[in-house]
Amino acid sequence: MEDKKANIVAVTTVVALIILIIVSRVVLELSKAFFLICGAGVAVILAVFAYLIIRRHYNRRRMLMESRLVSEGRELRTEYSFLRKVAGVPTKFRHKDLEEATDHFRSLVGQGASATVFKGILNDGTAVAVKRINNGEERGEKEFRSEVAAIASVQHVNLVHLLGYCCSPGMPRLLVYEFIPNGSLDCWIFPRRETQNRRGGCLSWESRYRVAVDVAKALSYLHHDCRSRVLHLDVKPENILLDENYRAIVADFGLSKLMGKDQSRVLTTIRGTKGYLAPEWLLEQGVSEKSDIYSYGMVLLEMIGGQRNVCLIGNDENRAEKKWQYYPKIVNEKMRQGKLMEVVDQRVLEGGGIDEKEVRRLVYVALWCIQEKARLRPTMARVVEMLEGRTAVDEPPETRMIIVDLLSIDEDTPDGHHRRKIAAMAPHLVDSNLPSTSTCSFAMSIISPR
Ligand SMILES: Nc1ncnc2c1ncn2[C@@H]1O[C@H](COP(=O)(O)OP(=O)(O)OP(=O)(O)O)[C@@H](O)[C@H]1O
Ligand SMILES: [Mg+2]
Repeated sequence: MEDKKANIVAVTTVVALIILIIVSRVVLELSKAFFLICGAGVAVILAVFAYLIIRRHYNRRRMLMESRLVSEGRELRTEYSFLRKVAGVPTKFRHKDLEEATDHFRSLVGQGASATVFKGILNDGTAVAVKRINNGEERGEKEFRSEVAAIASVQHVNLVHLLGYCCSPGMPRLLVYEFIPNGSLDCWIFPRRETQNRRGGCLSWESRYRVAVDVAKALSYLHHDCRSRVLHLDVKPENILLDENYRAIVADFGLSKLMGKDQSRVLTTIRGTKGYLAPEWLLEQGVSEKSDIYSYGMVLLEMIGGQRNVCLIGNDENRAEKKWQYYPKIVNEKMRQGKLMEVVDQRVLEGGGIDEKEVRRLVYVALWCIQEKARLRPTMARVVEMLEGRTAVDEPPETRMIIVDLLSIDEDTPDGHHRRKIAAMAPHLVDSNLPSTSTCSFAMSIISPR
């Protein structure tokens, strides 16, 4: 606009000057006055041309610099967003975008006690799993954001990558993860009836062993190699995902605080089905990385046997006739009798190709991990060494497996009674001298400084 105005003024000035020269030639003829006017006119015309040339040149340079700045800015932005991704800085998504990505939260992937997971596709084509947290709004936004940032900064090939989050006022909190195509391990080790309507099958022995190593590496990283130690506190097959090559990707680490998984949830979990929780945790003696190792051992046994460690067996109609079956106890007995192959999942045995030495190693490691005395359990780093055959694995010692008694407490007994019974067991169990530096209470952040 500025340029156009200047050009119009310049052309008008030049035309006016030419007219003035012509008029003065006619009126003044070749007089002295005419030559004066003509000289001044030509000088002004030349000045106008010089001004236009300089201005044009200057404008060109300015435009060139501007476009260079824009492209540099674009490059910087691309580089910055790449660095953000690499450094694991989580993106803040708008609720509307995630609603569109998940087709209005229609494509359900799975549901847990504290969250629902949906599949989504972002605008750039990235497949994501959007986790909608139930009752997550109670936490302050700042606290939520800092926990999310801490989780996203923890990166390992065997840990699921947190891409971003969404916390709009009045809306449920959302976490956005990379989508892991083959779902969770439970669908690949337990019989189909348990995981109906979900993608799954029977994982081969070779894959199970590899998954065991992958998960051990992920936990070892969380426990030993992170800047801040991270306790997972929810190691179970549902939280171990399988990628397109059936490699394990551990999910839900560090979520306890976001989900508000408190003591009551712990008790709910044990009374529900599970049995992945270490005795010291059930007895409220504090948790440490050793509690994760216990849960890991439990998952190993379930992978070997293709069945839940704790299940109610017996007549479906008569509840009184039902009793708890505790698979780790069976494995322990079979190991002492030298009949280790009998504990392996029948479907896997039928597939053949099982190395008995690997079975022994896996069973031994699992039984070491579920020792009730926390100090006897190996560290995750040592577990990796044992599974990879770099360290010999001794036969694990006897353990009372008192957890069965905890589980057999009648579910209908009032809570007070339940708690009294648990408290009565405490002295017979576990070493109360858990390393105090690594022990933490339920209330602490999962991400604790070393
Ligand atoms: N990133 C992901 N990619 C693909 N599937 C996922 C992903 N995250 C979770 N899932 C699926 O969603 C299911 C539900 O996950 P969620 O964490 O909500 O529940 P859970 O782990 O089963 O139990 P809880 O959260 O109550 O401890 C998982 O079991 C898994 O099958
Ligand atoms: Mg989960």
